[in-house]
Amino acid sequence: MFKVIVCEDYEAMSQKAFEVMESVVKQGQVTLGLATGSSPEGLYRYMVEAHKNGLSYKDVQSFNLDEYVGLPRDHAQSYYTFMFEHFFKHVDIELKNIHLPKGEGSLEEVADEYEALLTKHPQDLQLLGIGSNGHIGFNEPGTSFDSTVHVIRLKETTRKDNARFFDSLDEVPHFAITMGIKDIMRAKKILLVAYGKNKAQAIKEMLEGEVHEDVPCTILQKHPDVVVVIDKEAASLLKND
Ligand code: GLP
Repeated sequence: MFKVIVCEDYEAMSQKAFEVMESVVKQGQVTLGLATGSSPEGLYRYMVEAHKNGLSYKDVQSFNLDEYVGLPRDHAQSYYTFMFEHFFKHVDIELKNIHLPKGEGSLEEVADEYEALLTKHPQDLQLLGIGSNGHIGFNEPGTSFDSTVHVIRLKETTRKDNARFFDSLDEVPHFAITMGIKDIMRAKKILLVAYGKNKAQAIKEMLEGEVHEDVPCTILQKHPDVVVVIDKEAASLLKND
């Protein structure tokens, strides 16, 4: 079931998303599924700010959605670096409680180990962005709704969307390791953030389209508790808007 909150702009979206996040973090010993990308950056800013004002992440376990394959963890564009730069290094979360799939080494082993950890620690809240093609995590169109942690070949649209963070398109990895749809759906609550015209079609399909593996985000129609926080532009193709 969706609760859709349409906000005036990116800042308002980030603040609203923070309110949802804060209510979960305040419960104490919680497990958060975390996401990267430009959409949640503002939310992390609010989470860091709240820490300065006393909010603690000491009892939080975190599990990130995905990582590029082939980028060392200290690469400027790895999701590991993203998470430390935008969130972890600014707050009191314990290093031992931080988990990201590793995009190097024996990926089959990494996937199995990450899956085992996720099964042991179901997410109280899973944060999501959305790809312009409807992907969640890096579950690209066509991914099975039964998928668990796996390696995926990135679609060219996704590589192009993400090329803005790299020096050139050539440098964008072709593969990623990601939580599967089944892992995402296990979360008690899902918080999805999106902004801008580029996401409007995906948001429309997620809320109003047919549930189909060709548009991975449509599976969220089957989840009991999804809060969607978007700006006006991402909401611009919705029926009642
Ligand atoms: C990447 C990530 C997704 C994210 C998407 C959108 O592909 N793997 O988890 O949702 O980007 O990113 P942005 O918020 O920068 O548009």
